[in-house]
Amino acid sequence: MKTEILKMLRESGGYVSGQQLCEKLGVSRTAVWKVIGQLKEEGYHVEAVRNRGYRIVDSPDILTAEELKSLFHTKWAGQQVVCYKETDSTNIRAKVLGEDGAPHGTLVVADMQKSGKGRRGRAWESKPGISIYMTLLLRPDIPPVKAPMLTLVAACAAAEALKKCTGLDVQIKWPNDIVVHGKKLAGILTEMSTEIDYINYVVTGIGINVNTEQFSKEIENKATSLFLETGSTVKRALLIAEIVRAYEEYYAKFLETEDLSLLKEVYNERLVNRDREVRILGNDKTYTARALGITATGELIVRRQDGTEEKIYAGEVSV
Ligand code: BTN
Repeated sequence: MKTEILKMLRESGGYVSGQQLCEKLGVSRTAVWKVIGQLKEEGYHVEAVRNRGYRIVDSPDILTAEELKSLFHTKWAGQQVVCYKETDSTNIRAKVLGEDGAPHGTLVVADMQKSGKGRRGRAWESKPGISIYMTLLLRPDIPPVKAPMLTLVAACAAAEALKKCTGLDVQIKWPNDIVVHGKKLAGILTEMSTEIDYINYVVTGIGINVNTEQFSKEIENKATSLFLETGSTVKRALLIAEIVRAYEEYYAKFLETEDLSLLKEVYNERLVNRDREVRILGNDKTYTARALGITATGELIVRRQDGTEEKIYAGEVSV
């Protein structure tokens, strides 16, 4: 009921009478009044005016299932939301949910992670209350070899949402880092459980440095946050809602062709490596080549100094 009340207050943009809330939700005035009290306790600024009703003036920066669901307008992404005040890793939680049969689109969000995971076995700094740690559980009916492309779909969605919510000119560093002014703002980690020819589930975890004011010594030169870039704080739930919306849209495009044909342009426009030299780690030697953009299956096309072009797979390039 809290989600519904929040949704009604948000969508009306003005006052909603107690009567309207009771009728729509089929509950008593006392029940509505109780929920309004809970919202106030959680930090929502809800104004109550006699003869007019309730109006939401401001929301706290909290990550609860009710807050998130009241902001979602999606068909499948985030229809189930599981929120943790603290957990080991949202990817680990999503995999457990995947094993337990949770539906396609289930979203796991945490306010802090104790064992946040980055790519290549690295740790992901996951302090409480300031950043986004989210994972989407997917059950795509596609061959397992195509699943890595979902990471690039997530990169497109996160980049679009970040641009929309902050105006920042975010870019994608192939294959799936989100950077701004040359520093890393967000990372994506996709893991999956498959049979030889069948995907049980895929989990795509996205970590975004949102209101971080300071990073640890080890990463302060290469990491940045929305706060450090814009000087203002961002409400995490609004950004998550935008990512989930964009993901649903881009996922539909991906499914149409089961590749990135329809997203290639969006991706390449944001590609920070485009027309820049990248280092290719070959079997016997390392060389530099000019990055041109991605193929419809997500490999990076590079042009060598002798004019020949080749496709590079993740792991073969240091940029
Ligand atoms: C990278 O190394 O760039 C990937 C970082 C991915 C971090 C996110 S935070 C949410 C999800 N849970 C994790 O443990 N990792 C991912």
